[in-house]
Amino acid sequence: MPGMSQDDLKALVGRAALEHVPRGDVIGVGTGSTVDRFIDALGAEPGRVAGAVSSSERTSARLRAVGIRVFEAGEVGRVPVYIDGADEIDPRGFMIKGGGGALTREKIVADLAERFVCIADASKRVPVLGGYPLPVEVIPMALPQVTRRLEALGARVVPRAGFVTDNGQLIVDAHGLVIDDPLALECRINQWPGVVTCGIFARHRAQLCLLGTEQGVQVLQFPAAPSGA
Ligand code: A5P
Repeated sequence: MPGMSQDDLKALVGRAALEHVPRGDVIGVGTGSTVDRFIDALGAEPGRVAGAVSSSERTSARLRAVGIRVFEAGEVGRVPVYIDGADEIDPRGFMIKGGGGALTREKIVADLAERFVCIADASKRVPVLGGYPLPVEVIPMALPQVTRRLEALGARVVPRAGFVTDNGQLIVDAHGLVIDDPLALECRINQWPGVVTCGIFARHRAQLCLLGTEQGVQVLQFPAAPSGA
């Protein structure tokens, strides 16, 4: 399928994700332009799911618009699958997420899920995370401290101007990090006072990735969780 645009690849994996959605269940749904294509595909099959736990106000609005009931996380003990995109995904299924600013709720819904299925176009696959700036959601009072700590790691820190998350907090983007140990860095940043969460998804990495390529959908299976994950 040469000549496919990035949008075509997103639509391709959005449709392909339906195969990984059990019928009649409540599932977790992420946020972003690739997930929007998945929601379109879900909406074209009324009754396919009983509903969804949503990772953002944006996704909730889109789900409702296609007739899918939105559940609160607290109404659902577990979901069988969480479908979401990524800004980067490495060979172990570790990801950077949060380009759209929904990282915290995305991690909360991923935490409910038995399985994380990542849907992404081929541009998101990288050997090492960090080329994409790492989003960190921060409580405003802690912004200077968190900025200093990220700078001490070698990052250039850019506050996301004028952006407030669904949780009423701020985002900074940390440029220039080389994240060769995503699990360790995720745990380290998340322990800093005032950090809501960082956009490294290592403890909540993908078990499967449907990668949209010009040759079609490539299915990447990731090995069992590393210790500590
Ligand atoms: C939203 O906060 C992000 O985590 C998205 O899941 C991620 O940025 C992928 O978005 P696209 O599908 O729009 O590339």
